[in-house]
Amino acid sequence: MADIDRKKGLVLSLVATAVFGAVVVLATLNREASVAAVALDDAPAPTPEYGQRLLRETTKHLGTGQADPALQYSGNGLDCASCHLESGASPGTLSLLETAQRYPRFSGRDGGERDLRDRINGCMERSMAGKPLPRDSVEMIAMESYILELSRQYGAMSPARTAFIEPPAFTEPDRRADLVAGEIVYQEKCKICHGENGEGLKATRDIGEGYTFPPLWGPDSYNNGAGMNRVLTAANFIKARMPLGQADLSDDEAYDVSAYINSKPRPVKEGLEEDYPELFRKPVDSPYPPYADPFPQEQHQYGPFGPIRAYYAQQNRE
Ligand code: HEC
Ligand code: HEC
Repeated sequence: MADIDRKKGLVLSLVATAVFGAVVVLATLNREASVAAVALDDAPAPTPEYGQRLLRETTKHLGTGQADPALQYSGNGLDCASCHLESGASPGTLSLLETAQRYPRFSGRDGGERDLRDRINGCMERSMAGKPLPRDSVEMIAMESYILELSRQYGAMSPARTAFIEPPAFTEPDRRADLVAGEIVYQEKCKICHGENGEGLKATRDIGEGYTFPPLWGPDSYNNGAGMNRVLTAANFIKARMPLGQADLSDDEAYDVSAYINSKPRPVKEGLEEDYPELFRKPVDSPYPPYADPFPQEQHQYGPFGPIRAYYAQQNRE
């Protein structure tokens, strides 16, 4: 409606100008008219459809594939859908089907109440190694409305559609993860898609098109402050979902290969020491300091986690 009114306004002013015969002014207006028309037709609307496209093709629309530098928020080669399979519509681990109901809620990492837009920016700044989108941008509202729509539809779906088949949930082995064993799992079960050096496989030579097989480490992967950089979070996801289409790892394999991937270099996020203002809330597998316990950083990275949990349980009793 507003678009049509604005176009009508432009046409009217063109006619008025022509009537008064001001040729120079007319030429200027004409140019403005065509620019305005393009902008009006192309301007993305904050719809769930646009939001879904942003989750599926994040690099293309919000990363290196985006021609407008102001819209390049994401900083690596991943798409949201690299982790949230089928753009979050696939039930199971890291699904976004029931996300909307969970927000706003308390975030230990941020030390306060956070809503869905904050949570999206959490992944933008860490999983996507990027910078936060303005809360009221068209892109943010589009992604939020897509996630809200997913939850609405999920409520109406038949049990057949929401059923999912995943291996039994990951159970953490009570030992330090073994990086050498993890490398062997990687070579045998992951390298074929994710590459010799975890670099993934680009969709085309144009880096703006993103990846067919996303990178697991290196400059185009998630940063060191991301949830996936925690060994237990990664092992949960990997046991449930990888190798893609044939998730068959044992708990030991999932644990070791997660530690192996997360022992590799990746983008570094500044200011991580400010996470978890109440340090006792920090997950045991947060791989970066400071900690409210005497265990070395290595043990938070690779386990065993039992002794760390026992320490906090003891503190609580005292
Ligand atoms: C590298 C993997 C990865 C990528 C890429 C990624 N995420 Fe996430 N996302 C996660 C993990 C891990 C969690 C946290 C799960 C947890 O808290 O245990 C999460 C959580 C979320 C949540 C909260 C889910 C809930 O139910 O509480 C939202 C919303 C979300 N991500 C949106 C996005 C969006 C939007 C993008 C793209 C801009 C994105 N994510 C990219 C890994 C990823
Ligand atoms: C058949 C190819 C294939 C194999 C084999 C495979 N993956 Fe993946 N993996 C993918 C694809 C494709 C995605 C992105 C999800 C999508 O596009 O649906 C992905 C996503 C991931 C992600 C999240 C995104 C990222 O880049 O961080 C991790 C972590 C991951 N895989 C780990 C592994 C591990 C560990 C193994 C070996 C146990 C493995 N994958 C084996 C194809 C594969």
